[in-house]
Amino acid sequence: MRVSTILGARPQFIKAAVVSKKIREKNKEIIIHTGQHYDDNMSKIFFDELEIPKPDYNLNIGSGYHGFQTGNMLIKIEDILLKEKPDIVLVYGDTNSTIAGALAASKLLIPIAHIEAGLRSFNKNMPEEQNRILTDHISDYLFAPTETSEINLKKEGISRNVFKIGDVMYDGILHFSKLASVKSMIISRLNIRDKYILATIHRAENTNDISKLKNIVQALNESGKRIILPLHPRTQKYISQYNLKISSNVSIIHPIGYLDMLMLEKNAEKILTDSGGVQKEAFFLGKPCITLREETEWIETVNNGWNILVGSNAKKIIQSINEFLPQKERKNYFGNGDAADKIVNILNKGLFINK
Ligand code: UD1
Ligand code: UDP
Repeated sequence: MRVSTILGARPQFIKAAVVSKKIREKNKEIIIHTGQHYDDNMSKIFFDELEIPKPDYNLNIGSGYHGFQTGNMLIKIEDILLKEKPDIVLVYGDTNSTIAGALAASKLLIPIAHIEAGLRSFNKNMPEEQNRILTDHISDYLFAPTETSEINLKKEGISRNVFKIGDVMYDGILHFSKLASVKSMIISRLNIRDKYILATIHRAENTNDISKLKNIVQALNESGKRIILPLHPRTQKYISQYNLKISSNVSIIHPIGYLDMLMLEKNAEKILTDSGGVQKEAFFLGKPCITLREETEWIETVNNGWNILVGSNAKKIIQSINEFLPQKERKNYFGNGDAADKIVNILNKGLFINK
């Protein structure tokens, strides 16, 4: 089978690190990197340290408004699919690279497999929510990580070829944890000796709104805690543009590789984030997670008491940094760490596809 994997953003590289290896055991994989993320520390570092096969194509699309970015991806992906004639196109998550890949394949009647299907925030203002709904509705294999995601699909009338297989990010953390402990020097490099909070911020709804970003920065500054903040370039740009001042308790560092990130997560007292992936990783590692959003797709983590939604309210953020402590045992919502195996087994069986 010829599988064309389409990716372009940081979390997709991390997910592909476990899935691509499995695909290649029996199949030919053609990786198309859209170039949505292009800085070395947003892209190359993951391919190098996680030994992800080198992309066969890099479209170098780069940044831009949604239509420009998605449209250019669509044109170039279509060209490649026409040439490569894959049996299946594989897309991950909810980015502009996801919808561009799925749409290009759909119009060419190439079956689509969507990994991380069925996630919903129920906030259609988010570009990610638009991308995931649209992708799910044109996909042929829907790999749902959790029971909630499976139910969400059912409610939208999608039940055929839905497979609840667990979360590939859980596979990833199990697979790379040991390597992270051996290889990562981040704790000594940052001279970390005491407790700290690990923070990440990149969601458009937080960065593009000056009052929200101001509130979040104010909360970090006034938290009284050491905060380590590997900063996404989007957020760096807006912090400079809005001229926001960062206090000395907040250590801003460049985006880091996955192995360093895992070490910072493992050693953190708590995690503060608006990232989807980081919310899950906090849960996998048993770290209290404070989420800088009003809603989350990973609702199980909130219902289980390990994640609290605080939006961009400075008072709530500071209070949670100081007081939020999960009380319940963590349940297993995300599978057994064999999601990638299951996905590839299902694809290899070549279940019926009726376009
Ligand atoms: C994208 C996804 C988001 C995902 C995130 C993962 C969409 C709509 N959003 O958001 O769902 O959570 O990736 O990190 O697809 N930039 C650089 N260098 C880079 C990449 C980006 O400087 O290598 C800057 C550019 O100024 C760019 C901005 O970051 O305009 C935003 O990048 P973009 O890929 O559009 O969105 P993300 O916020 O990364
Ligand atoms: N991550 C990383 N380096 C960083 C920040 C995040 O390796 O500096 C990893 C993180 O551990 C997780 C993934 O990137 O595996 C999450 O990606 P991101 O937050 O960019 O996107 P989202 O998951 O919100 O779509």
